[in-house]
Amino acid sequence: VRVGILISGAGTNMQKLIERAQKPGSNSEVVVVISNIADAGGLEIAQKLEVTTAFVPHTKIREEGDMKMSEILHLHGVELICLAGYMRILSGQFVKEWENKMINIHPALLPAFRGGHAVRETIAAGVKVTGCTAHLVVEEVDAGQIIAQEVVRVEAGDTEETLHERIKEKEHTLFPDAMELMSVQLLENK
Ligand code: GRF
Repeated sequence: VRVGILISGAGTNMQKLIERAQKPGSNSEVVVVISNIADAGGLEIAQKLEVTTAFVPHTKIREEGDMKMSEILHLHGVELICLAGYMRILSGQFVKEWENKMINIHPALLPAFRGGHAVRETIAAGVKVTGCTAHLVVEEVDAGQIIAQEVVRVEAGDTEETLHERIKEKEHTLFPDAMELMSVQLLENK
């Protein structure tokens, strides 16, 4: 299954996805990484791992940039999209086009703490257990069907940064697992 990854930042999850796909026995092949941020750290990592990259700046009218991304994804024959720290809300049009073919990784146990500040809100709420969720993408943010979750304990003295670091460690195996699961499913439905 040909995979496209969208990023906005460091790309640590993206790196784990590429590395898993490059392992023997994987049903996934990462064929392109697209960033909406020109100097996203992930772009350099992808290039080192010999994956084609593209920079598609987001546009005021959401649909415009999203259409450009779709064009690139189709050009590379992408069948599955992984959102690995892509920090823009996608247009309804784009989400519909890729329905059931797009997954996201979120740093909380959905449906708790949806949105862009999940870890900060987790700390503020004082909960003692959190984690990460891999889920299908639907138009409502962080509301799609849950594919997999992993638990992380909140420790006394945790800050947003320390907690997010430990959550990301779990994301780094959960998300590649979810990608493989989706690839197997997509192959079965071919
Ligand atoms: C991850 O914590 C992910 O859950 C969230 O954004 C972060 C991306 O980090 N959506 P990275 O760019 O993969 O390092």
